[in-house]
Amino acid sequence: MTKATEKPLLNHSLTLPCGAVLKNRFVKSAMSDSLGDGQGNPTDAQTRLYERWAEGGTALSIIGEVQIDARFPEKPGNLVLSERSDMNALRQLTSRATVNQAHIWPQLGHAGALSHPPLSQPAGPSALNIGELRCDGLSLEQVRQLPDSYARAALIAQQAGFTGVQIHAGHGFLLSQFLSPLFNKRTDLYGGSIEARSRIIVEVIESIRKAVGTGFPIGIKINCSDLLEGGLTESDALDVIRILNDTTLDLIEISGGTYFPGAKASSDRASDGPYYLGFAQMARQLTDIPIMITGGFKHRDQAIAALYSGAVDLIGLARAMVVNPNLPNDWISNTHQSPAFPRFESTTSGGITAWFTMRLTALEQDNEINFDMDLATALDQYEMRDNQRVLKWREYFSQ
Ligand SMILES: Cc1cc2nc3c(=O)[nH]c(=O)nc-3n(C[C@H](O)[C@H](O)[C@H](O)COP(=O)(O)O)c2cc1C
Repeated sequence: MTKATEKPLLNHSLTLPCGAVLKNRFVKSAMSDSLGDGQGNPTDAQTRLYERWAEGGTALSIIGEVQIDARFPEKPGNLVLSERSDMNALRQLTSRATVNQAHIWPQLGHAGALSHPPLSQPAGPSALNIGELRCDGLSLEQVRQLPDSYARAALIAQQAGFTGVQIHAGHGFLLSQFLSPLFNKRTDLYGGSIEARSRIIVEVIESIRKAVGTGFPIGIKINCSDLLEGGLTESDALDVIRILNDTTLDLIEISGGTYFPGAKASSDRASDGPYYLGFAQMARQLTDIPIMITGGFKHRDQAIAALYSGAVDLIGLARAMVVNPNLPNDWISNTHQSPAFPRFESTTSGGITAWFTMRLTALEQDNEINFDMDLATALDQYEMRDNQRVLKWREYFSQ
């Protein structure tokens, strides 16, 4: 294992606290790929996508938004881990996604107040009615059931051949809502101070650990700031890092922003990064748990400099891996410096994320060379596909 005092190189392995080894410093960060079958199970297309990233040299791919409860999905293309999961299809996915010793982890999600309204009755830490956002508040009993629900999903993931899990506590979804004073107005044990707002996350980690055992990686994605007035601040987020340091986590991924209507989201930001290196430098002083930052990496030099800074152990890549799925191999062998990112003349909210999602569809077809979609068309096709899946999801999960 590379010690913090040594300078890690892109191809150096990293041993996580649980003992699992990542073969290099690249992680394909979670992306909701909208490729599930509408009944929470993987499709062949989706399986091919993760196989491609494994072939491209990533040490770990994280599948975005894999739901622990079909009542609160982010989108109708999400996977769901439940007693109804198609274990054969999941095993097919994990077996092809782990070629070249790649790891594959699901990002355990629950969208809470941001659950897809056509599929759910959104419910977060507190009942809210702000602008376009309306949701119920979870009862204390419902909150107390959450750790078990996460643990059950993690266990199914382990049985299906996933090699670890990531808890999604970023971007304004349920666990991120608990951390955020904007969403969390609770006056019980789970609201108020940052310790209280973090409580459910600590309980979720403990419960998952109990279910999956000591040798199985558990990571988390958190915001360093919601980038939203009244939301989670950097100072609170540093307290969260301090709290997480006392858990059995294996990896902390740092991100920022939310999908709160009209707010800033990392996936829609066009500028160069890395966005969160400054925060990682502060976090590094507070924890021994490996740190990964995701957001804005576009050039090989940025990845090397981030590792050399000593603040981060892993480089999280999302959009760059959509532009070039072989990026880890290319950056390790130094055959390409920078993927050819598209330039958009004007952007509508959510347009960039939709464009990248539609390009994922071209990747799974091994046909990205012919992908030439403008933003408006991407947004239309993305929404059209989701609308079709809504009907399938409703029919299946209402039974
Ligand atoms: C199409 C798309 C879908 C995304 N879905 C998720 C998701 O499901 N979970 C998540 O934590 N982040 C998601 N993200 C955010 C990315 O993981 C990442 O944090 C963000 O894009 C910034 O990193 P980048 O500059 O490398 O793209 C998504 C991003 C894109 C482009």
